[in-house]
Amino acid sequence: MIYYKTDEEIELIRLSSLLVGKTLAEVARHIRPGITTAELDKVAEDFIRDHGAIPGFKGYMGYPATLCVSVNDVVVHGIPGEQVLQEGDIVSVDCGVLLNGFYGDSAYSFGVGEIPEEKRLLMERTKESLYRGIEAAKAGKRTGDIGYEIQAYVEQFGYSVVRDLVGHGVGRHLHEKPEVPNFGKRGAGTMLQPGLVICIEPMINAGRRQVVQERDGWTIRTADRKPSAHFEHAIAIREGKTDILSSFEEIEKVLESK
Ligand code: MF3
Ligand code: CO
Repeated sequence: MIYYKTDEEIELIRLSSLLVGKTLAEVARHIRPGITTAELDKVAEDFIRDHGAIPGFKGYMGYPATLCVSVNDVVVHGIPGEQVLQEGDIVSVDCGVLLNGFYGDSAYSFGVGEIPEEKRLLMERTKESLYRGIEAAKAGKRTGDIGYEIQAYVEQFGYSVVRDLVGHGVGRHLHEKPEVPNFGKRGAGTMLQPGLVICIEPMINAGRRQVVQERDGWTIRTADRKPSAHFEHAIAIREGKTDILSSFEEIEKVLESK
């Protein structure tokens, strides 16, 4: 079943989502060649706990860390560890928190130092596809309208949309109904109604859409080993306008000052 939220509940999800944005900004401050993904995870966990919240991913289905840190051809669910970030890497950082009984969930892709133009474009266009999906997410439209816009936008560049993982409702649970695919047909899927809170999270591959899961049971990698990017916002459907609950503002302030 779908849990529609009251205005008060939406404000609590906003608080959780904004804390995720601040956490990702703190992570952004630390991203540089030479740092390990485990060090980034510690920065995030300490920051979240210092703000009176709990890491939302740790322990979820047995997931062992605060962040998912996914480098280059890793699409999502990279487990932080001894991997050292290198100049030219792109790294998707996905973070969830639990605060006041509600989850926040958001993700951003970063370049490490100077990155090749093709990776920069992949990240920029993946972020743009997220905003095009959000633009389509109006009351009365359907989840397929969101997926259609994301897919149509990125495929014109020869990129592909990952099919095996999708966006989702969010609230008292990290993953709620409905599923929000980043591909689809106009007019298909679940109707978007006021009070619905969803995470839209395009995972866009530079090459083919197929992915493989590593033997660690988590890491999802592109089958062709080409890079992938990932951005995620939580949004609330309201009468008339769509309300973006998470924010990249703090993150981008850090990036501009680097
Ligand atoms: N962040 C993922 C999402 O956006 C979920 C991560 S699952 C976890 O839906 F187990 F890694 F936490
Ligand atoms: Co999510």
